[in-house]
Amino acid sequence: MNVSIVAAGTLCGRISPVGMGSAEDRALLEQLRDRTDASLIGAGTLRAENPEMRGSGGCLSEKRLRAVICGSGVLSAAGKRIFVVGPPPLVFTGHGRVASLTDSLGGVAEVCGIDDGGHGLSVAAAIAELARRGARSVLIEGGGGLNHAALAEGVVDEVYFTVTPFLSGDRRAVPLADGPGPLGDPFLPLNLLSCRQSASGELFLHYQVAGRVHDV
Ligand SMILES: NC(=O)c1ccc[n+]([C@@H]2O[C@H](COP(=O)([O-])OP(=O)(O)OC[C@H]3O[C@@H](n4cnc5c(N)ncnc54)[C@H](OP(=O)(O)O)[C@@H]3O)[C@@H](O)[C@H]2O)c1
Repeated sequence: MNVSIVAAGTLCGRISPVGMGSAEDRALLEQLRDRTDASLIGAGTLRAENPEMRGSGGCLSEKRLRAVICGSGVLSAAGKRIFVVGPPPLVFTGHGRVASLTDSLGGVAEVCGIDDGGHGLSVAAAIAELARRGARSVLIEGGGGLNHAALAEGVVDEVYFTVTPFLSGDRRAVPLADGPGPLGDPFLPLNLLSCRQSASGELFLHYQVAGRVHDV
């Protein structure tokens, strides 16, 4: 299993509000979806945005898995295109919330119970369930809370981060990884795999989480 995080952010590391990436950044995201078997997003991202997780050329493969992780068990499908276009997504929640979330989503998603990870649901358990369903690679598409949890659990192999030519400076804007404490002592070390500068003013960074085997 190979697990990657992908995000675009400001020079100060803020990933919200979305929309700061160029068409070239969008194309990279779509190519990463083409190359991976599943996407996983946090419930916060679904509440804030309207993601469909399409690949290149607007493709929504019947085989590709799209999943949401929702700790509270409170999620509305109203107006969210992911529940209307393409195969029904998988929604992970705690075992005790499966019945109520299945009811409130009204059959537009498959709700799957997973274990508590201590500070939230276990991202590793969600990844394991995606693997059980055939995924050999998972693209974590944020937001900051899910990214932090996945990195803290040590399940992430690689990080794709597009530095866009913007500064935010807003402490309320979500950072790339947003959690209760530092990911390392105090930093989580990364190895740079590639860095590409674009005429758009963006830097396309690709890192490996130190100590993880790069097997893409
Ligand atoms: N620029 C980019 O590339 C990019 C990409 C994606 C998202 N974003 C932005 O990121 C923002 C959302 O980020 P966010 O941090 O608020 O939300 P998030 O990471 O998308 O979702 C967090 C939610 O995921 C659920 N969750 C389940 N298990 C968890 C665990 N172990 N740890 C943490 N969360 C867990 C919880 O749902 P419950 O609330 O149900 O408990 C939690 O509140 C949005 O503004 C979005 O636009 C930007």
